[in-house]
Amino acid sequence: MTIHVLGDPVLREKAVPIEEINDEIRALAREMLVFMKETDGIGLAAPQIGLSRRIFVLRADDGIDRVFINPQIIGTSTETVGYEEGCLSIPGFYEDVVRPERVTVQAKNENGRRVTIEADGLLARIIQHENDHLDGVLFIDRISPDRKEKIEAKFFKKHGKKGA
Ligand code: NI
Repeated sequence: MTIHVLGDPVLREKAVPIEEINDEIRALAREMLVFMKETDGIGLAAPQIGLSRRIFVLRADDGIDRVFINPQIIGTSTETVGYEEGCLSIPGFYEDVVRPERVTVQAKNENGRRVTIEADGLLARIIQHENDHLDGVLFIDRISPDRKEKIEAKFFKKHGKKGA
């Protein structure tokens, strides 16, 4: 597995739902969790490894590994909160991002069981960040256009732009 970074079109695609949760998907989820930890991430979405499928994994501060397949955020709090985010696909850049403080998410886990999670704190933050990846949205889309432009310019200067 390799991390696909800013400028790679796969990060901007709307990922496709997973039809069947089978051994292949379970293996993928396990590998994603291992890779996430190796890269010191706390969340990883399939598009970040070049796979345009609706699955992400995470490990929040409760230390529980979680797998979200075909997730849907079905509720968000009106209260919002700022928190400094980073992304394995935009290494070296961190920005305060304002998001709903709490979310309710429905998804299937790696056993195909439907789960509903009401999350707050870091867990809510990671869920929203990773869920965005499945829709081709990056955290820099949720900050001021000015800051986004600066980050993109710096990033592409340092790493080059794929396809450019
Ligand atoms: Ni990310």
